[in-house]
Amino acid sequence: MEETLSIIKPDAMERNLEDKIKNIFIKNNFEIIKEKKVKLEKKDAELFYKVHETKPFYNDLCNYLSSGPVLVMVLKKDNAIAENRKIMGTTNPKDADPGTIRKEFGISIDKNSIHGSDSKENAEKEISFFFKD
Ligand code: CMP
Repeated sequence: MEETLSIIKPDAMERNLEDKIKNIFIKNNFEIIKEKKVKLEKKDAELFYKVHETKPFYNDLCNYLSSGPVLVMVLKKDNAIAENRKIMGTTNPKDADPGTIRKEFGISIDKNSIHGSDSKENAEKEISFFFKD
């Protein structure tokens, strides 16, 4: 069994999509083993997305992630990281496959409703960022 980190982003929280998105995970046999709702400070978002600090979109990304509450979850399943990325869809919702979370709910590449870890190394880092024990 593998674990990955998922974040329901402010655009989806604002539209009350929390339960709809959680149900997609449950339907796809993910176990939500930890979850918490948090409102990040900008400096927390900057640390979380440090891997993107040289990108031109970094500042906007950090402003956005800290603009409202988010739901952070640890998902567990065989091959959870890749399976989660499959059901999330591509980063840009307009390119995502039908039926994926970002295609269904994403508004733009920034407001793409959900984050998911992209590798085993980042999953471990991201999980311990939010869940310290
Ligand atoms: P996420 O998977 O949370 O990881 C970084 C985020 O940066 C990404 O989703 C997008 O929402 C956002 N982003 C904004 N612009 C870009 C871009 N040009 N390429 C990749 N990610 C971008």
